[in-house]
Amino acid sequence: MAETDGGSPTKIARGLLEARLILITGKGGTGKTTFASALALLAALRGKRVLLLEIDSQRPALTPVFGVAPTYEPQQIRDNLEIANLTWQEALQSFLASLVPSRRIVRLILSNRMVGRFLDFTPGSREIVTLSVLGDRVGDYDLVIADLPASGHAFSLLDITRSAMGLFRSGPVRHRAEELRELLTSPTTRMVLVSLPEEMVVNETIETYQKLDRYELISRPPVVFLNRATLPTFTDEERTLLGRLCNSELSPLADEFVRAGRWEDELEQATAASQARLLETLPEPPLLVPPAPPGGIPREVVGSVATHLGRLVGISRRELRWE
Ligand SMILES: Nc1ncnc2c1ncn2[C@@H]1O[C@H](COP(=O)(O)OP(=O)(O)OP(=O)(O)O)[C@@H](O)[C@H]1O
Ligand SMILES: [Mg+2]
Repeated sequence: MAETDGGSPTKIARGLLEARLILITGKGGTGKTTFASALALLAALRGKRVLLLEIDSQRPALTPVFGVAPTYEPQQIRDNLEIANLTWQEALQSFLASLVPSRRIVRLILSNRMVGRFLDFTPGSREIVTLSVLGDRVGDYDLVIADLPASGHAFSLLDITRSAMGLFRSGPVRHRAEELRELLTSPTTRMVLVSLPEEMVVNETIETYQKLDRYELISRPPVVFLNRATLPTFTDEERTLLGRLCNSELSPLADEFVRAGRWEDELEQATAASQARLLETLPEPPLLVPPAPPGGIPREVVGSVATHLGRLVGISRRELRWE
């Protein structure tokens, strides 16, 4: 694996924004869309022309964040920032259009029942067209950020480059798969894994990294965000005191305080344990991001995460202009 970014959160975050393509995945519900949006806002503020691309999303997750439903064709929503949604059906049309010069023939191919059956039963055909369109978009922007599906599905999507090269010895699909593999392993492509301080989620993060590394689908270490992390506040003495208080007779009010303290301590310890496990296995330390204030809608959560990441890359809340 190539060089790391030197380990400091600032260097890792700044290094990430130098990429041309950022691919974001993680277990379902960990914060992929939130981080994709926050990174897109920051990169656009840094003066990069950014496309934030939602891939194969069941329901458009960018709509509650930006107040605009993303379409297949990119739409500009802020200075330097466009968003789009990429489904494999629409991707297939443009993939065929890139191989077959006549639109009429593309329409004929798409309406052919046999072709429909072929696509349903040919493993990887959906993935290769989706990835192919993603690859095409990269040349049109300074940075493309892809909000990929959850880890398992994202892995199949990326790994299609390898399986297609096994299936096709020559021809346009083989050629495209080779180009896409080159793109994935280019030093300017970065993988982001969003994790949570929970054992199962951390396990999935580690497994995803190990698979991507084993199948040589990445050339640089992934950037791992440990989302909803509780940063340490208790000293060892305070922790011992809390333990002791738990076993004493207390008034109901004092008991409630102690229980709140114990809960906070558990969260801190879960974060510390997750951080330690990730540090053991991944080449670079995870970047810890605290929870947004309770009750926030997705747009506010993105603002909170972007503010936090903005501090690492030297962008203030005021510059962010995100309310
Ligand atoms: N740091 C955070 N603090 C508080 N809430 C958060 C944080 N990060 C994400 N959330 C909230 O958690 C929910 C899931 O986040 P998000 O949609 O980004 O996850 P996802 O990984 O994209 O989910 P999916 O797998 O469904 O695509 C959202 O309601 C989001 O606002
Ligand atoms: Mg999402």
